[in-house]
Amino acid sequence: MRASDSPLDHFKSEGDLNVSPRRASWSTQHINAETRHWLEEDAKYFLHQSLSTPCLNVLRGCDGANIEDSEGRRLLDFHGNNVHQAGFSHPRVIEAITRQMKELSFCTRRYTNLPAIQLAKKLTELAPGNLKRALFAPSGTGAIGMALKLARAATGRFKTISMWDSFHGASLDAISVGGEAIFRHSIGPLLPGCEHVPPPDCRHCPFKCGAACNLSCADYVEYVLEKEGDVAAVIAETVRSTPFIPPLDYWKKIRAACDKHGALLILDEIPTGLGRTGKMFAVEHYGIVPDMLVLGKGLGGGVFPLAALLAREDLNRAMPDQALGHYTHEKNPVACAAALATLEVIESENLLENTRRLGEYAVGRFRELMAKHSLIGDVRGLGLLLGLELVKDRLTMHRATDEAEQVMYHALSRGLNFKLTMGNIITLTPALTITREEMDRAIEILDECLLEEGNLKRNA
Ligand SMILES: Cc1ncc(COP(=O)(O)O)c(C=O)c1O
Repeated sequence: MRASDSPLDHFKSEGDLNVSPRRASWSTQHINAETRHWLEEDAKYFLHQSLSTPCLNVLRGCDGANIEDSEGRRLLDFHGNNVHQAGFSHPRVIEAITRQMKELSFCTRRYTNLPAIQLAKKLTELAPGNLKRALFAPSGTGAIGMALKLARAATGRFKTISMWDSFHGASLDAISVGGEAIFRHSIGPLLPGCEHVPPPDCRHCPFKCGAACNLSCADYVEYVLEKEGDVAAVIAETVRSTPFIPPLDYWKKIRAACDKHGALLILDEIPTGLGRTGKMFAVEHYGIVPDMLVLGKGLGGGVFPLAALLAREDLNRAMPDQALGHYTHEKNPVACAAALATLEVIESENLLENTRRLGEYAVGRFRELMAKHSLIGDVRGLGLLLGLELVKDRLTMHRATDEAEQVMYHALSRGLNFKLTMGNIITLTPALTITREEMDRAIEILDECLLEEGNLKRNA
């Protein structure tokens, strides 16, 4: 008998759980004594928490689209925490960092520096509309916190509307607007005034419009805006890196509703901005401009933690009595040099074009896999933000979480690393520098793993 739904499924929104029996059995087969020693040391000194510690394996290298473990196994990294737009250790990024470290390695408060100024200028030039102001932070979570503070300061209101299942970071303010159980349960009171609504996920829509989506979820946001009457901001991921990809008119409706009810629109593109979807910013697919846009992850070139809040020019109200960020590494020159080099790589190597081309190619190949493997219930993609949803039954779309976990461990054994979201969505986010050959290799591995899982299921 195969395991059915586990009581832990509820917590599988952000990734696979690091306590599953399948993980233990994978480790027994694949981890040698020396690696085990280091994993035990890691588990001895780090605080244990869901999703990360104890860890699965130890890495010793990363380059381009690949990671290499301490036993020399190379894996295509289709996870990369979405930091590897330019690929890992891109020579131009590493060179820019090295040069900057030798010149000015830190910027003491009260001073500014050229890489920081140039980065603020570059980002505000690239950003759509009137997003002409920037503020940096050392983490996406920190930048989300700054956005929430700015929304309060600008509107004089404090309430927010955000989405169930969303993720905006791990701090108390970010989990208050976030919608994932694994971050919110058993932690005590969160920020007041954080209303949650269903996300635009056609496949699991509580309004049940399904394929004939009439955007009831967007109407509901407007309904809550009207009922509450004093909402400061709607905050959401433009496209969910799960991924679910909102219908084209979704953001137009939300933009209009925010304008009507005096709420600001904050879009979180921490994992999906900077080219991941085939445009520099995901919101460019939707033809609207938010009031604030939050970037992070790959901004630091996959080396430095760096995030940015971009805001409308008129939200820049000099506030001598109010700090928004004030982080120690706010204008870290090395991180900013890494970001400038990353943007240069994205532009000069035509990574947006590569992302669109290989993204479309992958979706086509995944549709072929769907015709072959009944486990695949849905295929989604926007640029190189790709998802295969595994289901027990295509009619009910019942999540095949157990099967998805099995496929993931098969794939790890064959050299492909990816994230599972909501327990059953194979989420694929390779480096934007990936080649067609690397993509073909990843698809071949997925095909083999789905076949193996299908055979196991039939023989069970
Ligand atoms: C959508 C989204 N927002 C915010 C964050 C938080 O970013 P950080 O981990 O840099 O604090 C993440 C991180 O995964 C994210 O995916």
